[in-house]
Amino acid sequence: MAKILLVGNGAREHCIAETLKRNKETELYSYIKSKNPGIVSLSKDFEIGNYNDLEKIKIYTEKIKPDFTFIGNEEPLNNGVVDLLKELNTDSIGPTKNLARLETSKSFTRNLLKKYKINGNPKFEVFNKNNINDAKDFIDSLNQCVIKPDGLTGGKGVKVQGDHFFTKKEALEYCKEVLQTHPIVVVEEKLEGEEFSLQCLTDGKTAVATPPAQDHKRAFDGDKGPNTGGMGSYSCENHLLPFLTKRDVEDGLKITQKVAEAIYKETGEFYKGIMYGGFIVTKNGVKLLEYNARFGDPETMNVLPLMETDFVGVCNAIINQKLHQIKIRFQNEATVCKYLVPRGYPDNPAKSGKIEIGKIPKDARIYYASVEQREDGLYTTSSRAAACVGIAENLEKAEKIAEEATKSVKGKLFHRGDIGTKKLIEKRVRHMKEVLSPNK
Ligand code: GLY
Repeated sequence: MAKILLVGNGAREHCIAETLKRNKETELYSYIKSKNPGIVSLSKDFEIGNYNDLEKIKIYTEKIKPDFTFIGNEEPLNNGVVDLLKELNTDSIGPTKNLARLETSKSFTRNLLKKYKINGNPKFEVFNKNNINDAKDFIDSLNQCVIKPDGLTGGKGVKVQGDHFFTKKEALEYCKEVLQTHPIVVVEEKLEGEEFSLQCLTDGKTAVATPPAQDHKRAFDGDKGPNTGGMGSYSCENHLLPFLTKRDVEDGLKITQKVAEAIYKETGEFYKGIMYGGFIVTKNGVKLLEYNARFGDPETMNVLPLMETDFVGVCNAIINQKLHQIKIRFQNEATVCKYLVPRGYPDNPAKSGKIEIGKIPKDARIYYASVEQREDGLYTTSSRAAACVGIAENLEKAEKIAEEATKSVKGKLFHRGDIGTKKLIEKRVRHMKEVLSPNK
């Protein structure tokens, strides 16, 4: 029997719970911010609480005495939950607060790659209140730039020239604005290319890649509208993407392997958990956009349902630093995930709408996200509601299944119909060809 405590309440954690529970020996407990019916139905017991309530997490852990804890989302990592669990002699899948800087501090990660001479950084400079006057020259030296606050911003702090602002003057103004609320701002050159998510499992010594996936940040079809937490994602049966080569994936993994080693050299601590690299294929090779210290949401739903190897065994191999001894296998199937979100999301979401789930089509899966089970039914919050996933032998079939699944959920919701479609994939491939063209 493996007693596992899962922290987190989204569709990502619903999918993690399902994958852990495929092992018949798993006894799952969960600490959740709101009552996600998917997670609750898979758990022997659950506790509702905030991710910054360390005392409550401590009391619940002491009551459950889990063999290990799986931290799903970044908030508890940033709040030092893994450090707290260490004090209670409980192992975790997820880094300590110090190592979670890989996600929570953009400057930490950029400087780490620079110090250990690891490929993947764009041109970048780090500014604070003392040297902000030098930012103008650096911004002027770049063709276009990206401004990143140093800290967790829920995906809303990063601003890109051409998307969120247009002139160098605006870039400098935004840097100064960021410094009102953050100690550091990172300025980077804007990279052009196609992005992919490579979620790697690591025990601090060995890193293993899961199949690459591509997320869709914009709210509306055709990549229009505001940025969101992610409206959906896809992965392919050959464990590449239509614009991605085997070499690109290997390069992403190589960077991650070197970063895992560099973290140990830098801090004396082994990183045990997920290193999810947001990479971009550019004319000058694979570059790193950012790391996240947990699985992607939605990209978890593209990889964990395909995992053939026992996930509990994989978690134990991470904890005991035995990842090099096991082979982690994934089915050769394509996946498409489409998020149903409340109307008006992300800027002005309709709150507390009732939703009803009808018959879910064969081969489809629904993972609950920010929904709350009340006595009289299921209600949305202001965030993403449910992830509809299709899994099949190719993208075309997987997309149709996911699309069909969206129809089984009734409520004031919308989704992106174009994710995983031939038309959008061809657009990505054309873009990649343009970027790599020698005339560019
Ligand atoms: N796919 C975006 C994220 O998980 O942060």
